[in-house]
Amino acid sequence: MERSVILVKPDGVQRGVIGEIIHRFERKGLQLVGLKMLSLDDALLDEWYAHHKDKPFFAKLKAYMKSYPVVAMLWEGAQVVATIRKMVGITLAREAEAGTIRGDFAMSQQYNLVHASENTEIAKREEQLMFTPSEIFPWKKTDFPHVYLDEEIK
Ligand code: CMP
Repeated sequence: MERSVILVKPDGVQRGVIGEIIHRFERKGLQLVGLKMLSLDDALLDEWYAHHKDKPFFAKLKAYMKSYPVVAMLWEGAQVVATIRKMVGITLAREAEAGTIRGDFAMSQQYNLVHASENTEIAKREEQLMFTPSEIFPWKKTDFPHVYLDEEIK
């Protein structure tokens, strides 16, 4: 099974949508295997956003991500990285599809509520950066036979 890292960004914490975001992923049938609140620092953000380091908005992005705590989550499911990206919507929130998290609750290019792992390789790197092994709980979710066919989760 795949895993994806979600951050509820500082604006999502301020806007009070932590519960809404968890609720959406839970209702979808995804499994929460890690959850914590933390403040991000320069060292972590430089690694996290290394691919954005030459972008004109990098300094602003870092200042924003340090402004208030974030909530980090690790979600598990079949092809969960792509599923979550679809549920989150595009970066420019005011143009994101209605029904997505950004489409329903945000308007900005920067203040877009959530970070979602971009692909499976990045998801693995982000899981290691964000969670220690003792912060990950691979519990048995007993409703999976009602969520997936056997062959979908092999
Ligand atoms: P996300 O796509 O999750 O990851 C990169 C983040 O940088 C993005 O969300 C926004 O929060 C922020 N971002 C992207 N483009 C801009 C921009 N042009 N100006 C300010 N922030 C941006």
